[in-house]
Amino acid sequence: MAEVVIVGNAQAAGELVADAIAALITRKPDAVLGLATGSTPLPVYQALAQRAGGLELAGVSGFALDEYVGLAVSHPESYRSVITREVVEPIGLDPHRIHVPDGRSETIESAGSDYEKALVAAGGVDLQILGVGTDGHIGFNEPGSSFASLTRVKTLTEQTRRDNARFFDSPDQVPMHCITQGLGTILRARHLVLLAFGEGKADAIAASLEGPLAAMVPGSAIQLHPHATVVVDEAAASKLRLADYYRYTYANKPGWQGI
Ligand code: GLP
Repeated sequence: MAEVVIVGNAQAAGELVADAIAALITRKPDAVLGLATGSTPLPVYQALAQRAGGLELAGVSGFALDEYVGLAVSHPESYRSVITREVVEPIGLDPHRIHVPDGRSETIESAGSDYEKALVAAGGVDLQILGVGTDGHIGFNEPGSSFASLTRVKTLTEQTRRDNARFFDSPDQVPMHCITQGLGTILRARHLVLLAFGEGKADAIAASLEGPLAAMVPGSAIQLHPHATVVVDEAAASKLRLADYYRYTYANKPGWQGI
């Protein structure tokens, strides 16, 4: 079972996860980070940017989870642009070491297998940051995604397109398709760190952590992972049946263990 850490607010979550990433980079200067977009991981990136001065980042690489298909890379809401603006620049990562699935329509047929090869060539992801969609999706693996799936093209649900419409001028500008690491790809990362904040994520978190393993709840795939950490605020934790047990476990955790 994943370790669940219930924190006071998103900033505290950011500090906790940034500390874990900083420790990883110190231990392994060529660490491979799995990067997620969305608003949830932003406090992690902000806290990591504050620690960047004390870290040797030249050897660190990053792999994004997903990208829209058919949206120009130069579009401000392409995940390449978002990752550059919100992660690479503030932290000071080497842009040449940052990979994002290629969502260009012309090369889309081979883009999934190319991305899988690049992940393997880099030695795999050491720490994968994850958010969760209100329908339980991780990356862009919508309900129904196979637990064995690899990087491939998916069709976004209407709910996800509505959720993401806030980044575009109008809902119909949200692309219909995406390319995303599969659940099987994500499960290969050595450490998964899933974050969620706010009441809107409470159902997705409860179903992912305490519900049955089900393709209908892509987030439940993390139950299969030997080293998964879930960092949530009180609101996102509000529907967890074992919340008190998670608090008790974390409060009594040996200090040397980290997350
Ligand atoms: C998008 C991303 C996911 C992210 C989700 C939640 O669909 N592809 O990786 O987890 O949004 O976004 P937010 O963190 O903004 O709630």
